[in-house]
Order: sequence, then structure tokens, then C-alpha cells
Amino acid sequence: MNAEDLFDLAPVVPVVVLDDADAAVPLARALVEGGLPAIEVTLRTPVAIEAITRIAAEVPDAVVGAGTVVRPDDAERAAAAGARFLVSPGCTERLQTAMAATGLPFLPGAATASEAVALLEAGVTAMKFFPAEPAGGIPYLKALNGPLPQVRFCPTGGVKPGNAADYLALPNVGCVGGTWLTPADAVRSGDWDAIRGLAAEAAALR
Ligand code: 3PG
Repeated sequence: MNAEDLFDLAPVVPVVVLDDADAAVPLARALVEGGLPAIEVTLRTPVAIEAITRIAAEVPDAVVGAGTVVRPDDAERAAAAGARFLVSPGCTERLQTAMAATGLPFLPGAATASEAVALLEAGVTAMKFFPAEPAGGIPYLKALNGPLPQVRFCPTGGVKPGNAADYLALPNVGCVGGTWLTPADAVRSGDWDAIRGLAAEAAALR
């Protein structure tokens, strides 16, 4: 799988923030059953690596990745846990090198033309556009597509059911990401039916 292949897995990548590792497997199953196999578990909580390990081992139809990769050793830890892709909110040369060294597909974050050009210089054409709405949203992505048509983005940050289809209609958007698929109260109460339903609605966006 390369980074462009990630875009073909599903129109939406759920961005998951987990506080309880026991929720990881049922949550991933609900998302996969709803039609969203690519799942980004953010390295923002102490249980994130354990959650990735469990999903990788117990939910074979999920393609679990690590998000919020911000330090070079995050990339190695996530790969060792079984992550199949990496996502970062922004990027530096060191971080890009560390992500590439894992051999996994990765979506480094870019929010400006200069950041996208710097990644292009390193041979990267698939990126996360973050934070999508505050950084300029749909008009900004349309503007980038003029000079940089070879770049495809996964916009994340403020993407919601109300605007996701408009993002997905852009030629330089491969998929979108967001936390709306896994509301904290539904995860806490184990309402997997609700999450399966949100995933199904998102899967139908393309
Ligand atoms: C993130 O990485 O935190 C995502 O961009 C989530 O953004 P959202 O909560 O607006 O979906």
C-alpha cells in the first residue's frame, strides 16, 4: 500500500482519540462494519499504542494507522505496534525522514503552499491538509490545485458531515478525516451501534 492507496480505502478516515484501550477493538469493528476500514488512532493518549496493537491483532479488516505523529520516535513506536500508515499534523525534515524510514505510507501535514512545496521536494505527493477549516478550507485547496495539481490532500480539522461532501468533490482531495465519527460520549458508553451508523453515513459520501 502506498499513500495514494489510502485515499481509495474510504472517503473518510475516522480520527480517534481513545482513553480506554478496551474500547479499541469494539470501536474499530463498528467503524469497519459501517464501511470505514482506515482508522487513525491519535498518539495523544497514554493508551494509543496499546489500542493500535489490539486493533492490528484483533480486527483484521481494519487498516489501523497512527495519527498525531510529531516526534521521530513516534513513527517507530507506531510501526512496531502494527500501524499500517502514519499521519502527522505538520512536518519537519527529521520527522519526514523518520516516517519514510518505517516503510509505511504516511500523510505528513501541510497547511501552506510552502509546506506543500517542501514535501514535494522530498518526493511526497499525498499530504494531510491541517487544520483544514482554520487554514482556509475549500477555497484554499482550490487555490493550491492551480500551481500544485500533483498534490492530493486529506483535509482534517473542522471537517464535518455538513462540509465533507464539498471537500470530497475537489480534484485534489483524496479523502477527508475527522473526529465526528467517534463522539466521546458514544465511545464512553459503548454505543457501537451509533458509531456504526455514523460510519455508514460517512462511507456513503463517495
Ligand atoms: C485532528 O487531528 O485533531 C483532527 O484534525 C480532528 O479535527 P476535528 O476534531 O475537527 O475533526
